[in-house]
Amino acid sequence: MDLDKLLNKTELSKEEIVYLLELEKKEDIQKLFNKADEIRSKHCGDEVHLRGVIEFSNYCSQHCMYCGLREENFSIKRYRMTAEEIIETAKHISNLGIKTIVLQSGQDGYYDTDMISFIIYSIKQSTDVAISLSLGERGFDEYKAWKIAGADRYLLKQESTNPKLYSIYHCSQSLFERLNHIKYLKSIGFQIGSGNIIGLPLQTINDIADDIISLKEFDVDMAAIGPFIPSDFTPYQNKKPGSVELTLKSMAVTRLVLKNVHIPSTTALDTLDEFGREKGLSVGANVVMPNFTPHPYREQYIIYKNKRGVKDNPDAAYNKLQARIQTIGRKLSNTKGHSYKNSLTTH
Ligand code: 5AD
Repeated sequence: MDLDKLLNKTELSKEEIVYLLELEKKEDIQKLFNKADEIRSKHCGDEVHLRGVIEFSNYCSQHCMYCGLREENFSIKRYRMTAEEIIETAKHISNLGIKTIVLQSGQDGYYDTDMISFIIYSIKQSTDVAISLSLGERGFDEYKAWKIAGADRYLLKQESTNPKLYSIYHCSQSLFERLNHIKYLKSIGFQIGSGNIIGLPLQTINDIADDIISLKEFDVDMAAIGPFIPSDFTPYQNKKPGSVELTLKSMAVTRLVLKNVHIPSTTALDTLDEFGREKGLSVGANVVMPNFTPHPYREQYIIYKNKRGVKDNPDAAYNKLQARIQTIGRKLSNTKGHSYKNSLTTH
């Protein structure tokens, strides 16, 4: 295949996606990265959107083979932040000028429909922010209530769209069910964030190509592509981490295929590579998600090993992150950074 021609095509077939993911020569990979950067600039501009994350509970009723928060992991200290703590942290993030708050937790039924609605409504009353929820699979009636309470976005990763692998990674749960939740969330007007993990055991390049095509078919507003990092006290604790290079290639191809979506440069990538954030931002990413979970909780949200920044003071870490973004010549956005697609959303 002629790489230059391929990189200029508006649509890529699965074979072409696989070809790009398998590029090996440094100069070819660099061409892919440059093209992704160019497309990011054309569709999203040079601004980096910030999403302030609050990991408010690490209780989880799920059993994902790769995740340190899985219910069977009795080695971590579990915590739940109170509604007041969550709302105060959200106000603090808003006072720093960040216009999106991500409320993230394990799948934790302790926070019932009304409690989450109360938290969303209270934050919306006292700040001018967009709210993303990342709470796992919950009831369809709950999604609706939270939309009405004022939530704007929902993050639910497809993780892997190979049904066999999905069921292996998630203790026999069904991919079909997961995708159904994503479809429903979309149908009631949420902006959708999804994504997958690169380098999980048994995963092939072919699977990654299918995952990218699925993100395109779902017409997601945000696509998060991060590397697998083994987590202690999980069945995958001794498996190899995902490759930084393959993660970067996957992010770049995702930008080529999806074009006008948000793509974060993930903390997982920054954990595996000292310059992970910068590298991600230079291969198609346009979002970063600084972690504002307060001490002592932030050390306890152990999705995977050695997560970068958990010992840092949240505000100091945020300042460092801002400096890193500006050093590579990118601007920090001061808008909510809504979807590039959703014309119904007020900006
Ligand atoms: N490595 C990388 N990402 C992980 N996640 C969970 N465990 C890991 C891991 N070991 C990601 C999943 C999940 C999100 C909360 O974190 O994609 O959706």
